[in-house]
Amino acid sequence: MLHEENLAKPKVNFRVDYQVPNYLIETVDLQFELGEDYTTVESELAVVPNPAHKGARGPLILTGLEMELLHVSIDGQDVAKDNYTVSSESLTLSSPDQAFQLKIRNRIKPQENTRLMGLYKSSGTFCTQCESDGFRRITYYLDRPDVMAKFRVRITADKSKYPLLLSNGNLVEDGVLENGQHWAQWEDPFPKPAYLFALVAGDLARMSDTYTTTSGRTVKLDIFTEHGQLDKCDHAMKSLKASLKWDEDTYGLECDLDNYMIVAVSDFNMGAMENKGLNVFNTKYVLADSRTATDTDYLGVEGVIGHEYFHNWTGNRVTVRDWFQLTLKEGLTVFRDQQFSADLNSKTVKRIQDVRALRAAQFPEDAGPMSHPIRPDSYIEMNNFYTSTVYNKGAEVIRMIHTIVGEEGFRKGMDLYFERHDGQAITCDDFVAAMSDANAHDFSQFMRWYSQSGTPEVHVSTSYNADDKTYTLHMKQTCAATAGQSEKAPFVIPIKMALLNQDGEELPLTWSQDDQTDTTRVISVTDAEQSFTFTNIDAEPIPSLLRDFSAPIRLRFPQSRENLQFLMSKDKNEFNRWEAGQKLATELILEMVAQRARGEDMVVDLGFVSACRSILEDESIDKALAALALALPMERVLAEEMATIDIDGIHHARELLRGTIACELKDSLLEVYNANISTDEYSCDSTSMGRRALKNACLSYIALLGTEESTAICEKQYQEANNMTDRLAALSCLIDLDSSVRESTLQDFYEQFKSEALVIDKWFMLQAMSKLPNTLDNVEKLLSHPDFSMKNPNRCRALLFSFSAGNLYHFHRADGRGYDFLAEQLIALDKSNPQIAARISRSFDRWKKFDEGRQIKAKAALERVLATEGLSKDVHEIISKNLE
Ligand code: TRP
Ligand code: ZN
Repeated sequence: MLHEENLAKPKVNFRVDYQVPNYLIETVDLQFELGEDYTTVESELAVVPNPAHKGARGPLILTGLEMELLHVSIDGQDVAKDNYTVSSESLTLSSPDQAFQLKIRNRIKPQENTRLMGLYKSSGTFCTQCESDGFRRITYYLDRPDVMAKFRVRITADKSKYPLLLSNGNLVEDGVLENGQHWAQWEDPFPKPAYLFALVAGDLARMSDTYTTTSGRTVKLDIFTEHGQLDKCDHAMKSLKASLKWDEDTYGLECDLDNYMIVAVSDFNMGAMENKGLNVFNTKYVLADSRTATDTDYLGVEGVIGHEYFHNWTGNRVTVRDWFQLTLKEGLTVFRDQQFSADLNSKTVKRIQDVRALRAAQFPEDAGPMSHPIRPDSYIEMNNFYTSTVYNKGAEVIRMIHTIVGEEGFRKGMDLYFERHDGQAITCDDFVAAMSDANAHDFSQFMRWYSQSGTPEVHVSTSYNADDKTYTLHMKQTCAATAGQSEKAPFVIPIKMALLNQDGEELPLTWSQDDQTDTTRVISVTDAEQSFTFTNIDAEPIPSLLRDFSAPIRLRFPQSRENLQFLMSKDKNEFNRWEAGQKLATELILEMVAQRARGEDMVVDLGFVSACRSILEDESIDKALAALALALPMERVLAEEMATIDIDGIHHARELLRGTIACELKDSLLEVYNANISTDEYSCDSTSMGRRALKNACLSYIALLGTEESTAICEKQYQEANNMTDRLAALSCLIDLDSSVRESTLQDFYEQFKSEALVIDKWFMLQAMSKLPNTLDNVEKLLSHPDFSMKNPNRCRALLFSFSAGNLYHFHRADGRGYDFLAEQLIALDKSNPQIAARISRSFDRWKKFDEGRQIKAKAALERVLATEGLSKDVHEIISKNLE
């Protein structure tokens, strides 16, 4: 009886099936008795019929998973066992068609919860993760975001083990009981969906501060961590205060809470969670000091603290009607955290990093078996749809709206959005309608970005007419068929552009379609084929298109190498200067891959090398941008440019180009390296980060020389570094060298940092990403290292995900051993944490893009996983889509 449901085909949820709930819950009173053997939950719900529900009311069906039901009563009367039905997923009551009080008592076992959804324990601390459907693992409930209730929470626990008892909102009362127990009563004044519920109980250290809002309210800010980690919370607190300030300055949004709490836990499935007033964070996005965290980590903390705080308005005050609308809160909130980081640091650097991430993760996702629109049409397991598409492409869609209506227009749209929807659970259409109404702009065709998947391509050709001095851009947009979508209608594609003369100056653009003149403009491609003609152009210009990556597309525009080199040095748009270099490098590498495939020697075109020399010799250039310009496109990004991925070819061609740059530019590299060494105390300001980035970009080339001298430089930097950025940069050079220094340095690193979990994650990650031939053997060995654990998501990601998603060259070995290895680990991991197993199984996504030999081996590995008895629906969904 128990197993029947498990054997059945996993249920698919469809967006079009949405129905309003038949009942609503107005208030929730929860009582938790946290124990070592089990936890008892008592829930009292004020249930009312939903007036918006049409037709026959039907029974009240509450969802609940993996719990023991102890007692049910309605309006104070016990409900007999034959008056309700309990299945493995729900509690059904044929309830009266009127308001009533429902009391439920049940028992759960947080200490056995390894999937880290619902109530679980992390290093002795009780904590919760309820998004998207974790609350149903705590008690029976209408666990859907359009049911919003006011929560009161009473927690009882052992006082010495759990001196700290937290939930959402305000502490209203607490007290001590007999036999060492104590209790706390919390009340959240804001109605919220269950996914924003949180509870924390443990023995934690606290850092407190305050922030005064523009209107003069004082908000108490608390960050809680394990004891001994408080000195790593300064940056998080600083970032939190900056977030509160930024949202006031940029959007006029004030913090509505008396107390904003952040709790850092070491076992967490994702980055962080925006629970109302009580965020729970992965330690990775809270803890940072110069000894243990890199510049990237500092920026990560700032970005994620901002992200979760910004959710307080975009996500919590205005939430989603159903989970298909996830991008309503995530796309918008990612866009907001991107703006925040751009304002605090460098706009162009942030934009380049975001575009790099989009191309590395979202473009492959959108071309593979998991391709879906930013608002998906169906899902089996919602956790599988917290994707780069929903988050990052979702943010790009918001960015396009921002580009179309402009900064002020966007603010007007946001104001109207909150005016209309504060306190509601709504859809993406409601958001776009607010933008549309506030700006009198028609977004109906634009809505295709919400419904069509795939990365559009825009093919550009140009023509210059010297007689009538006109210049025309011919645009043709296409979008390849994607999983479940064969036909696509044209998108609205805003293209920011300028036309440059031979000196790099931007020409005044008089566009024949209207009579405005400007040097840069945004043209809107809306048809399958369209031309744009500019008048009064004296000589054939060099176009600079898709500035700042104004749309998430692939621009197909054949440009000569001379023009690309020209744009690299002359384009006034810094993003496009970087982009021209990436395009040039991509062309060269792919040409080398083709030479190698034909059995020819690979020939390195020295044009790119000399462009790198100009960057190194240009003292006026921004250092962070120079570092980015010196970095070649990632292997996974290059791979997407090939019909059949030749991973060995890509790897060897890219390495040959890197090696050539190192040899040819040795002197300049050393000079710039030395000029940027600093003995100043660590600081994470943009200037210092830029200097370190450029220095370490040079080091990564210098290390390739493979001489005693170059290895000694890496070793010296490793030993003398006064911060983790420099130490890790040196170690990541050594990790690719087959030398005894590699082993001794790795050992030293381990010894120095063995008590710092987040640094040991880096130690595992570096080894998983090594280019050395024995990497897979070493990864297999590391599985039995005493510090490796399948139970900790950060550690799994550090070893398994870094190898399978971050080391394409070794994961996609021709002998298929990479695939076999991952399949075996996924089967093991799925038993404890399906959500993480499913995420890591995404590393298979591009298997059909490889050669036949690899395909056969990947397919066999996938089939082995799929045949596993008791496989979770999480992994099942990913693997079966891969095999479709
Ligand atoms: N809403 C969270 C965020 O974007 C995402 C999240 C955190 C999450 N933990 C999760 C999603 C667990 C699914 C499962 O900030
Ligand atoms: Zn989010």
